[in-house]
Amino acid sequence: MIKIKTEIWLGIDLGTSTTKVYLKDKGFIAEIPTVIAFNKRNQSILAIGEEARKMIGKNPAYIEVIKPVNFGIVTNFDEALYFLEEILRNIKKDYFSLFGLRVLIGIPLNLTEVQKRGVIDVGKGVGARNVYLVEEPIAFALGANLDIDEAKGVLVVDIGGGTTDIALISLGGVVIGKSIKIGGEIFNQNIIEYVKEKYEIIIGESQAAEAKLKVGSLNNRLQPASFLLKGRDIYSGLPKEVNFTSNDLRESIFDSLLEIASNLKDIINMAPPDLLGDVTTLGIFLGGGGSLIEGIDSFLEKEVKIKVNLVEEPKFAVIRGIGKIIEDFERYRKFLINV
Ligand SMILES: Nc1ncnc2c1ncn2[C@@H]1O[C@H](COP(=O)(O)OP(=O)(O)OP(=O)(O)O)[C@@H](O)[C@H]1O
Ligand SMILES: [Mg+2]
Repeated sequence: MIKIKTEIWLGIDLGTSTTKVYLKDKGFIAEIPTVIAFNKRNQSILAIGEEARKMIGKNPAYIEVIKPVNFGIVTNFDEALYFLEEILRNIKKDYFSLFGLRVLIGIPLNLTEVQKRGVIDVGKGVGARNVYLVEEPIAFALGANLDIDEAKGVLVVDIGGGTTDIALISLGGVVIGKSIKIGGEIFNQNIIEYVKEKYEIIIGESQAAEAKLKVGSLNNRLQPASFLLKGRDIYSGLPKEVNFTSNDLRESIFDSLLEIASNLKDIINMAPPDLLGDVTTLGIFLGGGGSLIEGIDSFLEKEVKIKVNLVEEPKFAVIRGIGKIIEDFERYRKFLINV
């Protein structure tokens, strides 16, 4: 049965890999791959989300598979709009709103005014009468239950699909922050290149992603610590299989991890001394889907010599924070950005 609401109040974390959705008074309602597939023959939407994601690398010429968000930034506005419209259509099967729609969208640090307007236009385009924006590291910190209101330094690291966002927060705002183009999807590319070089096998992106998830750890102790990769021999072109281990995972993403560590060190070096003292006491807070590979926290901890705390349900910290804001809007609206 359709439930009647005064308004539909949505929180959206539009990620490079997946979009997370929160509905006020209901909670977290969906995680959907940020992918949309079009039928070019009749200009219609063929699929969104998981179904569209499965078509990547397998689509015939008449099907176009598009990822509207790249490196955390909305790059394909029309497609982002269609994508959100589809999500909304599903919500409207269950809810009818008397006074329309409000949305809060998470955005990366350092977006230009034009890029921010673009995100607002996407929100307005799906019919929202109010569109609010929050910087993802702020939402992340709220979602990790960190106290960001005080004159105290809180350092957060979000390893997503497309980017790693590092931010030092104090008094409710980002003091220094950085977004680098490394994340879970880059790890997949690292794996593809590594096995090509080491095992002379060509694999697709979905095999790389699966190997990463199945092996799951930089350490050798976790079971099962290996995954049978299926690909093609680079010389003969014939099918070939190799065993991919946690050792391989560690070696393949090692340079990417070093780069995250080096950028983290830069932020630590730039931190005002008083805030750095707080960071040393509290430790660094790590999350994002990319941080789910076991051992990344201790790798970073060794590199920067500051304790690294993995937050609860690391992939959902940003959307939890967004949810927190819309559930208690008057209390938290001071954390939104003005546009
Ligand atoms: N258990 C896991 N182990 C390793 N990696 C994982 C795991 N679960 C998810 N990931 C990876 O996390 C990434 C997605 O993380 P997340 O949802 O935080 O990114 P996003 O918000 O979509 O992207 P971004 O914030 O960069 O725009 C994907 O690359 C995915 O493969
Ligand atoms: Mg994210």
